[in-house]
Amino acid sequence: MGFPFFDHPLTLELLRQTERGLREFLDPSVAAVLEAGNYAFDAGGKRLRPLLLLLVARGLGASDGELRERILPLAVGIEYIHTASLLHDDVVDEAETRRGRAAAHRVFGNGVAVLTGDYMYASALYLYSVYGSAEAIAVVSEAVKRMAEGQVLELKRVGELIDEETYFAVVDGKTSALFAAAAAVGALAAGAAELKDLFWDFGLRLGRAFQLVDDALDYAGNPTEVGKPVGQDLREGKATYPLLSVLDGLDPEEVKRALLTGEGADRLVNLVRKLGGVVKTKERARLELEAARRILEKSPLKGEERELLLSLVDFVVERTY
Ligand code: IPE
Ligand code: IPE
Ligand code: MG
Ligand code: MG
Ligand code: MG
Repeated sequence: MGFPFFDHPLTLELLRQTERGLREFLDPSVAAVLEAGNYAFDAGGKRLRPLLLLLVARGLGASDGELRERILPLAVGIEYIHTASLLHDDVVDEAETRRGRAAAHRVFGNGVAVLTGDYMYASALYLYSVYGSAEAIAVVSEAVKRMAEGQVLELKRVGELIDEETYFAVVDGKTSALFAAAAAVGALAAGAAELKDLFWDFGLRLGRAFQLVDDALDYAGNPTEVGKPVGQDLREGKATYPLLSVLDGLDPEEVKRALLTGEGADRLVNLVRKLGGVVKTKERARLELEAARRILEKSPLKGEERELLLSLVDFVVERTY
């Protein structure tokens, strides 16, 4: 994909296993579920969360055999949860596009999209019950609860200006928690339960930066590369970091009107960009990534996996998709 992290032979091998696992472990007997599920997978996706889980587990000493037989299903489960959350998110956000093509609910309808998401959540739970542990189940359940809470919190504040504290409460729920769970499960799967909290914190920082950059890309990304339209968040009435970071330079009435009605949103998106909202958002993301880097350096994880995780940290802020 043109970025060192994705070109590394170990990443490519783990990606290959993840792609195979994603299809292998999904076995609905109803064709429409399989069709909608494969539609979501085939559109691509970066698979960052399963890669994170696998790299942490391998870096903490899990063998390739353990990885294939026992840990891959847990990584696949994390991606099922992520995919389910996207299927549901696009219904909630009434989004038209995902991963460069029509969002699943636009093709299969809201009902099939929501229920396929449910199917994927349950598939993840099943994989964790067979290949995981009670502790791993507790970690992912916590993440899914926080995701739902974060998204409800966001939904409740649509059309309103929120403060930074609320913004980060939303982000930590809807996005950081699953990154945190992926890294924590990686530690658990490698038999390093004592490092679970440390890696949870690593994933949390990474996830926070990831969502900040997602929000920056919503203001300034290339829609073809990102696979989602630009200016969508503001049009949906969501006050995200790029906007919050330049509020001082904006007319409060204009901001309120754009959030509430979408009126003047395109103009405001340009203004936020001109005032440096995108740059400030990436700077904020870099702070989180520095914290993530420090956590990793404190951990006993060494070698190739450590280099790759550091390269993943760089990707998160430099990415254009
Ligand atoms: C999209 O996540 C949802 C957010 C948390 C912003 P990704 O950007 O990881 O989605 P895919 O899986 O690569 O499409
Ligand atoms: C991330 O929020 C949502 C999930 C974690 C599912 P967004 O609503 O910003 O995600 P995109 O931009 O639609 O991918
Ligand atoms: Mg969305
Ligand atoms: Mg959303
Ligand atoms: Mg977004």
